[in-house]
Amino acid sequence: MSAPAKVSGGVAGPSRARISARTLRTDRWWLPPLLTTLGLATFVVYASIRSWVRTAYWVDQYHYLTPFYSPCLSDSCVPGSSHFGTPIGELPMWIPLGFLVLPFLLGFRLTCYYYRKAYYRSVWLAPAACAVAEPHARYTGETRLPLILQNVHRYFFYAALIVSLINTYDAIAAFHGEGGGFGFGLGNVILLVNVILLWAYTLSCHSCRHITGGRLKHFSAHPVRYRLWTLVSRLNTRHMQLAWTTLATLMITDFYIMLVASGTISDLRFFH
Ligand code: FES
Repeated sequence: MSAPAKVSGGVAGPSRARISARTLRTDRWWLPPLLTTLGLATFVVYASIRSWVRTAYWVDQYHYLTPFYSPCLSDSCVPGSSHFGTPIGELPMWIPLGFLVLPFLLGFRLTCYYYRKAYYRSVWLAPAACAVAEPHARYTGETRLPLILQNVHRYFFYAALIVSLINTYDAIAAFHGEGGGFGFGLGNVILLVNVILLWAYTLSCHSCRHITGGRLKHFSAHPVRYRLWTLVSRLNTRHMQLAWTTLATLMITDFYIMLVASGTISDLRFFH
């Protein structure tokens, strides 16, 4: 049975039909928002724990570095894991070793058009589903603080491009054999798939689509930008799937490296 609507404005405003039930829907409309919340919460909890524990994030034998600790730029990083040096001194335990990029990655995902839709509906219930009254009395959209800040998404996109380049470097540096030289194993496959999907997610961004093809009056006069825009648009149709897939591949990559780094399993080696 649906709970009665508690609001006085919004859907209960004077211009709306007088319906006391929150919704007349009888299907399981609450299931998608529930699954979305659980999915997002799983990632947030996992990523937070792993970012703070400071253990099993680097496999020295094969040069595997988990994306949650990249780039590792402090003296607190285990030897070998700092691909770009250690310009930062020791960090106190409450600061994650990947602290430099984590705010940008978080900002990129939080302001992502797809995730906005996902958490506005599932966490903020605004509205939770079609034909289900939201519990909020007023709707101001993204026209004022704090939600107007969602407009900085484009700048987080630029930061995400740099992070993707760093992750690409890590994935290439991981083709490292046990005694030095070239080598690859299952960890490389996982790192590579993760970084390819991260690029696909980043380049399928709505801001990227606007950057490549926006504000053009005549596509015919800009054939290169038109071509890029066409490619990004094609990827963009998969943005939601890529948003979820990359959350999964980030966790799988980190989890696999954690298992190998902690000695729980051995890396499946294909060469050296
Ligand atoms: Fe999702 Fe830009 S819209 S990452």
